[in-house]
Amino acid sequence: MRNSFVGLDIGYDSIKVIELKRDKAGLVATNCVIEPIEYDDVKNYSEEKVAEAIARALKNPSIKGSSVVVSLSGQSVFTRFIKFPTLDRSKIDQIVQFEAQQQVPFPIDDVIWDYQLLGDWATIDDIDEASVALVASKKEVITGLLENFESLKMDIEYIDIAPFALCNCIKFNEPALDGCTLVLDIGAKSTDMLVMEKDTVWLRNIPIGGIAMTQAVQKEFKVTFKEAEFLKKKYSVILCGDGPMVGESPERLRISRALTATMTRLLAEISRSIGYYRSHSEGGRIKQIVLVGGGSNIENIGTFLEHKFNVGVKKLDTMHNLEYRNGMAEFIAKKNTCLDVLLD
Ligand SMILES: Nc1ncnc2c1ncn2[C@@H]1O[C@H](COP(=O)(O)OP(=O)(O)OP(=O)(O)O)[C@@H](O)[C@H]1O
Ligand SMILES: [Mg+2]
Repeated sequence: MRNSFVGLDIGYDSIKVIELKRDKAGLVATNCVIEPIEYDDVKNYSEEKVAEAIARALKNPSIKGSSVVVSLSGQSVFTRFIKFPTLDRSKIDQIVQFEAQQQVPFPIDDVIWDYQLLGDWATIDDIDEASVALVASKKEVITGLLENFESLKMDIEYIDIAPFALCNCIKFNEPALDGCTLVLDIGAKSTDMLVMEKDTVWLRNIPIGGIAMTQAVQKEFKVTFKEAEFLKKKYSVILCGDGPMVGESPERLRISRALTATMTRLLAEISRSIGYYRSHSEGGRIKQIVLVGGGSNIENIGTFLEHKFNVGVKKLDTMHNLEYRNGMAEFIAKKNTCLDVLLD
């Protein structure tokens, strides 16, 4: 069995790389690199800048492997969960092929798609319904990715998608989580919402995240995107609660106003999606919320969500089951981030 892996998360805002080793103590994180993608504004965001950031991250001397597991952002892929009466296994391929042609919103020849049967293959004949996760990505996204790695002389072991990797990461790090859990990965371009319940997961990518918050700050302060990004991170707060905002600086009040407006739009989408999930999947009530992603660093975001959903909110704790070496724990604490999606 291999005992060393490199995982690479291609986010919209940054490239995150983690090197993991398996030793007697269990899984150990030996190195990590976070490489920002350079852009002053979404208007001049480019694939070249993404490729440069990937190259910088992987050429970092601390990362030694020659093959990587790549996770793609939820917004670069199309996912659907399909259920159908279980037939014999040899027919499943055919059925999913038919479903892919029906459901993928692009010509099927222009995408690369695959599926995973959810649940336990061993008992599939004993249950009434097969449940399948279908994933598709435009061919140009995958070929662009492969070209990048060819020039870096690195092999891609396999490509995963961030929300599925996050789901595995949560199961690994938070095995005690019980009941229907809403996971929110508030990234830059979008927010991945996952509803995890028993052995199933349901997900949706919502195109509202840190960029939309920066744009709201930009509008509030009438500054450039870059200046707004700086102000957002400096004052990063959602003021909530019942009391008057006595003693708050004007900047914090204005940032809070901009972030609250964006979060309210995001929450409307999340509530709508939960309603859809519950009516279509006969899902249970959300018992708790787990937060991940750069947007989860906003001061008070947990309290804000607690008020709205009336359930407990916590940040994902990746320090539980994973040992960190080479000062990584301090690095992660300093960056106030967790390398959530890489522990696949
Ligand atoms: N302290 C903070 N307050 C508010 N926003 C923050 C803070 N720190 C980071 N962010 C925002 O988080 C976002 C980046 O988060 P993350 O690294 O999870 O995104 P990503 O994975 O690169 O993007 P995506 O998931 O959309 O592909 C940026 O928009 C950034 O401005
Ligand atoms: Mg992300």
